[in-house]
Amino acid sequence: MRSFIALSAWAAGLTQAYTVTNTDLFMFKNIDPIVLPGQYTSHMHSFFGSDAVTVNTTTSAELQKGCSSTENPNDFSTYWVPTLYLVQNGTHRPITPMRFSAYYENLNSAEIPIPQNYKDLAGNVSARSQDDIEGNAGVKWFCEGDPSDENEDDAAFPTKTCSTHLQTLLLFHDCANPKTLESAYSESPNYFPNYGENHCPKGMYRIPQLRFSIRYDLRKLLPDGWEGRPPLELACGPSYCTHGDFINGWLPEAAENMLNDSSNSGFIPINGPLGDYNAGSVCGAGNATDSDPTHGTSNYAKSVRMMKGASMKQHLVKHRRWA
Ligand SMILES: *[C@@H]1O[C@H](CO)[C@@H](O)[C@H](O)[C@H]1NC(C)=O
Ligand SMILES: *[C@@H]1O[C@H](CO)[C@@H](O)[C@H](O)[C@H]1NC(C)=O
Ligand SMILES: *[C@@H]1O[C@H](CO)[C@@H](O)[C@H](O)[C@H]1NC(C)=O
Ligand SMILES: *[C@@H]1O[C@H](CO)[C@@H](O)[C@H](O)[C@H]1NC(C)=O
Ligand SMILES: *[C@@H]1O[C@H](CO)[C@@H](O)[C@H](O)[C@H]1NC(C)=O
Repeated sequence: MRSFIALSAWAAGLTQAYTVTNTDLFMFKNIDPIVLPGQYTSHMHSFFGSDAVTVNTTTSAELQKGCSSTENPNDFSTYWVPTLYLVQNGTHRPITPMRFSAYYENLNSAEIPIPQNYKDLAGNVSARSQDDIEGNAGVKWFCEGDPSDENEDDAAFPTKTCSTHLQTLLLFHDCANPKTLESAYSESPNYFPNYGENHCPKGMYRIPQLRFSIRYDLRKLLPDGWEGRPPLELACGPSYCTHGDFINGWLPEAAENMLNDSSNSGFIPINGPLGDYNAGSVCGAGNATDSDPTHGTSNYAKSVRMMKGASMKQHLVKHRRWA
């Protein structure tokens, strides 16, 4: 019996604890409060989680006042990604994911909860090839459950029809400074001399690592499937420009509960003040909606015009400066 317990404790150390919550899309919109605060000139994004998000959002408290489309009632985070489009005959049709899952991984290694007001970006919006993507971001596009093509880039769309879902993965930073809210990916101190035993840069601590896992069902949209490059495009361009944004909105008590049980492994239910992990959004996930509906757009063509207008204005300002 004794050796059995020792063995399972050791095994638990190998299988890291995680939690996951699913969240519904509540809007398409051409904003990005992290990258382009105050402006309606971003490429189109698909938004999930707290609907309090606007061009101006900077704090967790703002998000916690919203209606969240996330199934864990304690999670008021807002998550967003570039919208995926089906492009046929020059027309862009936005695709709503079948499922968006926010995983929080490596809970056993976390030293501090995800801080309030913490925000993070993962991926490279300008990437046009695999080499442009930081390996730590773990960007992948693949057919769920199907054998993958060894000759394909991880971040390329699969070149054959998926038997079930098209899936994409993206990993966020797992080190954060709770005072400055700066963040980084963990690295081994054997190779990164200014990193500590916790695998973080000095002044940073391990936090639960956020991973996006998004599944798209293309079977009705593309009944004949595809061979070669699929007729898909992200709002930012090819599959390589995959990126994600996150503003933390977890209630502080629930964020702390992610660190509760260091002996556990596998799935950990994160309960909190507003209910159990699977109780559902307190306002009803389907009630989440754009809280700034009279500005910006959810229309692809209009978003492209608004982006062009913005770069034209920038060009004119530059020109005037030189004139
Ligand atoms: C964002 O902030 C600006 C400047 O304070 C303000 O004019 C605007 O109404 C705000 N927009 C929203 C949606 O809160
Ligand atoms: C694209 O346009 C062609 C010619 O007008 C038409 O035959 C075809 O059905 C269209 N395809 C889609 C997917 O709309
Ligand atoms: C992002 O991609 C661009 C290519 O457009 C590349 O020049 C840049 O170095 C990449 N950034 C990172 C951090 O890899
Ligand atoms: C976390 O620990 C506290 C104190 O032991 C306990 O009251 C709470 O139920 C725990 N939460 C979870 C999600 O296990
Ligand atoms: C929206 O909220 C109402 C009242 O709070 C609730 O009865 C309804 O089920 C919610 N709708 C959805 C789609 O969640």
